[in-house]
Amino acid sequence: MKGSAARMAARRPALMGHEHMLRSRLAGTGSYLPEKVLTNHDLERMVDTSDAWIFARTGIRERRVSVDETSSEMGAKAAKNALKAAGLHPRDIDLVVVGTVTPDMAFPSTACFIQSRLGIRPGAAAFDVSAACSGFLYALDAADKYIRSGSAHNALVIGVDRFSKIIDWKDRSTCVLFGDGAGAVVLKAEKGRHGILSTRIHSDGRRWEMLYAPNTCQPSPFEASEPVLPYLRMQGNETFKIAVRTMGGAIAEVMEENGLKPEDITCLVPHQANLRIIEAIRERLKLSPDKVVTNLEKYGNTSAASIPIALDEAVREGRIKANDIILFVAFGGGLTWASSVVRW
Ligand code: UT7
Repeated sequence: MKGSAARMAARRPALMGHEHMLRSRLAGTGSYLPEKVLTNHDLERMVDTSDAWIFARTGIRERRVSVDETSSEMGAKAAKNALKAAGLHPRDIDLVVVGTVTPDMAFPSTACFIQSRLGIRPGAAAFDVSAACSGFLYALDAADKYIRSGSAHNALVIGVDRFSKIIDWKDRSTCVLFGDGAGAVVLKAEKGRHGILSTRIHSDGRRWEMLYAPNTCQPSPFEASEPVLPYLRMQGNETFKIAVRTMGGAIAEVMEENGLKPEDITCLVPHQANLRIIEAIRERLKLSPDKVVTNLEKYGNTSAASIPIALDEAVREGRIKANDIILFVAFGGGLTWASSVVRW
């Protein structure tokens, strides 16, 4: 290769070649939302808020809440839909990775419960990843690495959260923001140009107090300190600013790594925390609104579930086609953040 062709290949490694590389192909997507709808007007009767405030500040109109379904029940339903879309049977799955911070129990993992619910072969590997709203991309990255190394062939990656269990329903600054749900993808090992091109995950534990939920375990009789309330706490305004800055940087990182320019991106599927955050990111990238998937008007912030739910909806609406370049970006408690590029 000479001259401009060589320069192109050096600048755009992911868009050229790599025909023989083992990759994780996204073979199917699925999602599940609990039936109960909680509207902004319903919340007006619970706390001092208004539909107008919530919609203007966040873009949310309503969200779903689980009445009695656990994270593993919701996750299993989403996974079932993803398996169906991929044309695979639970017996084909050799790895289950679940991003969640609202597991059914402290242990076993939600992934083990989902393995059992779906009838996935005993002996397959199953584990949870705790990265709050970045949980799905963290789980995706872990599963991708097992597949690329040849340790797994077909993986289920699930993002699920049931924040209705950890929300203080008397705190208007947080209870209007979140919803419950689950999303899943099936990853299949395949040689070629399609699939996950790269994923980057990051964290900064120094700033955990921006967004956290203490655990709900009983205080031990030996504990010296006062028990803390189990509810989620967030410094909303400061988190907002960090989220915009950090997600912008995470996008730039994977785009640069893959030699991508904004016009190469067919579809951005961002974490659905706040429409104003998503708009700021979209404007920075100069993407047209039709290239950005948003659904937080209907579901609010579903934490680890938000990206796979949005992806599944976009796929089912026919918005994503073969060879499209899809960009994912997330930000959450930890603090954690992550980004990924996929060729469909
Ligand atoms: O998913 C993980 C990452 N999470 C995020 O990225 C979320 C980031 N943060 C946000 O989305 C926004 O900061 C919020 C939507 C949480 C808040 O919006 P804001 O524009 O940052 O508002 P604020 O926190 O600065 O509050 C503005 C005012 C305050 O009143 P004063 O002090 O100005 O009188 C709040 O008390 O709005 C008040 N307020 C409310 N009013 C009506 C706060 N919550 C509500 C409410 N209804 N639900």
